[in-house]
Amino acid sequence: MENIEDIKQTFLRSLENATGKELEDIGLLYMGRKGKLLELTKALPLLPVGERPKAGKELNELKAFIKTALREKKEQTKGDGPREHDLTVPGKKVRRGHRHPLTLITEEMTNIFSSLNFSVVEGPEVETEHYNFNALNMPENHPARDLWDTFWLQSSKAKNLKLKTENLLLRTHNSPMQVRFMETHEPPLRIVVPGRSFRYEASDATHEIQFYQLEGLFVDRKVSVAHFKGVMELFFKKLFKDEFGGLRLRPSYFPFVEPGFEVDFYWKSKEKWLEIMGAGMVHPKVFEAAGFAPGEWQGFAFGLGIDRVAMLKYKIPDIRLFYSGDLRVIKQF
Ligand code: FA5
Repeated sequence: MENIEDIKQTFLRSLENATGKELEDIGLLYMGRKGKLLELTKALPLLPVGERPKAGKELNELKAFIKTALREKKEQTKGDGPREHDLTVPGKKVRRGHRHPLTLITEEMTNIFSSLNFSVVEGPEVETEHYNFNALNMPENHPARDLWDTFWLQSSKAKNLKLKTENLLLRTHNSPMQVRFMETHEPPLRIVVPGRSFRYEASDATHEIQFYQLEGLFVDRKVSVAHFKGVMELFFKKLFKDEFGGLRLRPSYFPFVEPGFEVDFYWKSKEKWLEIMGAGMVHPKVFEAAGFAPGEWQGFAFGLGIDRVAMLKYKIPDIRLFYSGDLRVIKQF
């Protein structure tokens, strides 16, 4: 006669992951008309007379145990299994990623310029002193360098001093790409350059030490301020739609343009002028630094603060929110 304890253990193992129909099958296997327990009961008379009462008792206990275990397991697993899905239970909400508002606005802006036949190019964030300053008509010791508080790269500065090579810095604006691009491309040119700039200044609601700019450069044989104004009006109309109430140029100074101006934009619902970028006609010294023949080409350039545009467009009151990593801000986009 098989060991009762072995049967019990085998039964318990088969019960472990069983549900629904499987439990029915296990029930039949042990308790059915052709089940194991009935077979054992039939075999009882074959035992020596002295052993029969003990074996009979154990068998009865096993029968009771299996019955209870099966009933309990059926209770526990009620509702499990493929046939028991409740299709009325509300689904789990899938969380989707969000693109950063600065990414969204940059894409929208570059798309508009692409539609106006501008190419979108990018430049290095770690820049040389030459491209950030010298080539833009700001030689060493030129007071105009004070317009931008600069992060110099200390280690490379020290190392490069020894090697007598150039100093490196985090670019203070995206204008260095003007010269880099002109050096390697033949005019006429139309580019915009989105990317990060860095300045060593105190941050407040409208200033950060890192921020994004969109630099623009347009070069052809005959280019005037009227072309600049026409392109920018088209751009702002597409970007701000009904909010756009016109552009205003005010004289300003940047060493790499002549004349230079600050550009204001009229925000209709607020009924006020807002300063939005620096711009001007490309300075002959800059064409010279890029190796273009004097007097042959004309152009305009501009530098737009992307963060400032995003603040206007999305009504965000503080630039620092873009960089805080606060998901409550990002999730709104
Ligand atoms: C420049 O950086 C010039 N390179 C722009 C230019 C390009 C002029 C081509 C002429 C021709 P400015 O320092 O004004 O200019 O910066 C341009 C824009 O960047 C500002 O109007 C502002 O929108 C944004 N900006 C400047 N500093 C910060 C800052 N700390 N935080 C956020 N945005 C800034």
